[in-house]
Amino acid sequence: MRIRPSLLARTLLGSALLAAVAAPASAQDKIKVGFMLPYTGTFAALGTAIENGFRQYIDEQGGKLAGKTVEFVKVDDESDPAKAVDNVNKLIKRDNVDVLIGTVHSGVAMGMAKVAKETGTLMIDPNAGADAVTGPMCALNIFRSSFSNWQPGYAMGKVAADRKIRTAVTLTWKYAAGDESVNGFKEAFTKAGGKIVKDLTLPFPNVEFQALLTEIAALKPDAVYTFFAGGGAVKFVKDWAAAGLGSSIRLIGAGFLTDGTLEAQGAAAEGLLTTLHYGDSLNTPRDNAFRLDYAKTYKLQPDVYAMQGYDAAQMLADGVNAVKGDMKQRDALVKAIESAKIDSPRGAFTLSRAHNPVQDIYLRKVSGKVNRNVGIAVKGLADPARGCRL
Ligand code: BEZ
Repeated sequence: MRIRPSLLARTLLGSALLAAVAAPASAQDKIKVGFMLPYTGTFAALGTAIENGFRQYIDEQGGKLAGKTVEFVKVDDESDPAKAVDNVNKLIKRDNVDVLIGTVHSGVAMGMAKVAKETGTLMIDPNAGADAVTGPMCALNIFRSSFSNWQPGYAMGKVAADRKIRTAVTLTWKYAAGDESVNGFKEAFTKAGGKIVKDLTLPFPNVEFQALLTEIAALKPDAVYTFFAGGGAVKFVKDWAAAGLGSSIRLIGAGFLTDGTLEAQGAAAEGLLTTLHYGDSLNTPRDNAFRLDYAKTYKLQPDVYAMQGYDAAQMLADGVNAVKGDMKQRDALVKAIESAKIDSPRGAFTLSRAHNPVQDIYLRKVSGKVNRNVGIAVKGLADPARGCRL
């Protein structure tokens, strides 16, 4: 059994790590936020939604945290892992940011987390689910406001087995997020007796699905579990509907398949079942207020990405307020975020030892361009944080 280090030991470790890095010059009079997000490519809309949600929370605080004006700089990471280290270094070394907010793509997030860990820069991941970020790469200065790739996948594996789906094909882009989402699905599905017929992949961000759909038709599984998001998810759902496979094979997936995409997918998405830590019909006072303000400000409906951006800002605020804006008090800042109960539109959540949300995963069904919440697939699901030593 692994022994959890004492708080004192963790604090000392944290001091040593974080003191190695000079506090940004900007820390005294303002808080400088560096967005590293995709603003081009298949995940462009996701990056914008995250920034919108983050700004919404800061605007609600009058543009200030603990009396310090919040300033923003941003870099388009293009969802390109090869450019991740250069991009994050621009924010840290050139722009001298106090906190990194990023990113969407798991491969890019792992590059960011490596640099954040080495330099001790505070990082809040507002989407990318890379299991490693809150697994082997976990660190005192790295937090996530979103999910691990394992979480929605695991929940859907359980739902599929409960709904008497016996055989499944998995289909995703071949990169960390797809692989890990599929692994989470397989873990719960096979444990309950389900059988995986075949794992199919295509390179990110490829959207040539035709040959794969032909193969699925021949394999005749009960269901196809997918991980796709953004522009790729729009194209996949439309191609699936056009191929007419839905009458005999159930299409299921991590909720990104239908989140922020329903306007573009239209009738092709109707009836799809997905699992996610958010939905469009929670109908709580907290979520209704968030959604109304977002729609008024941005003339768009919010989605899971906007909500995660909003919560990243709430987590930062918890830390900054605890140290009254003095970003040099890193131990206290980290402790405040670690122990916060985040009043999220998704429902209140806390963070795990590895700094990942412990949260309900909802089952949603698309109905009339809305991801309707039809139940809770798994309550209070914590990522196993395999390999995290904190
Ligand atoms: C990821 O790469 O981790 C990811 C991208 C889009 C949606 C969800 C996860």
